[in-house]
Amino acid sequence: MTNLSSAESTGSPAPGSMVVPGSGAMFDAIAQRYDLLNRLLSLGIDQRWRRRTVAALGVAGQGNVLDLATGTADLAILIARSAPSATVTGVDPSARMLAVGREKVARQALTGRVTLEEGDAQELPFADATFDAATIAFGIRNVPDRPRGLRELARVTKPGGRVAILELSEPRGGLLGPLARFHVHTVVPWLGSLLSGAKQYRYLQSSIAAFPPADEFAKTMQVAGLRVLEVRSLTFGVAHLYVATPDPSVRS
Ligand SMILES: C[S@@+](CC[C@H](N)C(=O)[O-])C[C@H]1O[C@@H](n2cnc3c(N)ncnc32)[C@H](O)[C@@H]1O
Repeated sequence: MTNLSSAESTGSPAPGSMVVPGSGAMFDAIAQRYDLLNRLLSLGIDQRWRRRTVAALGVAGQGNVLDLATGTADLAILIARSAPSATVTGVDPSARMLAVGREKVARQALTGRVTLEEGDAQELPFADATFDAATIAFGIRNVPDRPRGLRELARVTKPGGRVAILELSEPRGGLLGPLARFHVHTVVPWLGSLLSGAKQYRYLQSSIAAFPPADEFAKTMQVAGLRVLEVRSLTFGVAHLYVATPDPSVRS
């Protein structure tokens, strides 16, 4: 899953390379194959997870939505399609991922409602309370200063608006846990590296393992000013969906 798919950040440069795993520069290198890899590695489940994320945002009609770490804009497009009067702003540091995204947006005749721009989750170029809802899918792991990215999400979302965070996690427990772990730890890095030629895919495994357990991450969200409303385990815990709203009692 690319997101499963994604080659993800471990926060340190790849050996013999100056490209930081999980950074925009790393995603530039795999942008052309990113969507294909996502679908193959996640067995198509990634889009189902994104649809659940869209539903959690609660933007039925009008609305101004932020899709942070938008990449090739899959989630931004799903939001625009599910809420026909909504506008979506996608932000990502990878120019090449955005270029792929812009082509897809144009093909779907959504250019008027989906705007993609370069930017970093840690310093968003938007005023406080700009968006009715905000989301980030498979991207928060790549943000070097995660609490700062979360504070930015809380800051730019209007009071009462939803913030939905979709992220991969280490499959734990359950009868199918070992199978899911084998897929994540063995099949995904091997197949990803084979298909993409991008050795960065090896970092997927370590970044998932390095990501905190769901309850711990939810606490980080709370401290960052996001009141967590729900934490949902998806597909044997391979991913989690965190639904929150800005907490006005927490000052950033
Ligand atoms: C696995 S992709 C997810 C893309 C998309 N959200 C999706 O659902 O397919 C992770 C994205 O995080 C982006 N990213 C890396 N560092 C970032 C940062 N500091 N701020 C925002 N996005 C970042 C990468 O460029 C990449 O496009």
